[in-house]
Amino acid sequence: MKGRFIKLGGIAFATAIGFATLATMVQAQTDVIKERQELMKSQGAAMKAINGILEANGPVADIATHAAKLQETSHKITDLFPAGSDQGDTKAKAEIWQSPDDFTAKAKALQNESAMLATAVAGGDMAAVKAQYDKVGGACGGCHKIYKAK
Ligand code: HEC
Repeated sequence: MKGRFIKLGGIAFATAIGFATLATMVQAQTDVIKERQELMKSQGAAMKAINGILEANGPVADIATHAAKLQETSHKITDLFPAGSDQGDTKAKAEIWQSPDDFTAKAKALQNESAMLATAVAGGDMAAVKAQYDKVGGACGGCHKIYKAK
């Protein structure tokens, strides 16, 4: 009888640990999903701000801070898509984890295009900045088209 109690107690204990671990894992994934969605929103805000400045025809220098933001965030993208974070309230498609190298390449494309945007802004030529802004937009879309659900 005594042995039986101990055994049951052991199972209950193991189950409690199991749930606690699962809850922690789900929480960690929810956090990383939220974090990358916030990062993406900030990128959207930066693009919108740049577009507004372009439509107002300048001042070009005001774009610098937004270009810097895009450059900074572009380097953080891949870390925010750890394996297993396809579960939950997310539009991230499973293809991200099936083609990690290509996904990384798409993030790298944004790193390059946003760096060139910063360079164009520093150059001060409005037409060059506009052309490079379109390329940055292309880098966003190039990834979304394949890896983000509508
Ligand atoms: C390497 C791939 C990749 C690149 C590059 C990328 N995105 Fe995303 N973006 C995603 C994925 C995947 C999601 C879905 C994230 C989720 O729901 O977990 C997303 C989501 C978003 C969202 C929706 C956020 C929300 O939940 O409300 C916005 C806005 C966004 N991206 C803007 C941008 C902009 C602007 C750029 C370019 C400056 C960009 N993204 C570049 C992959 C990318």
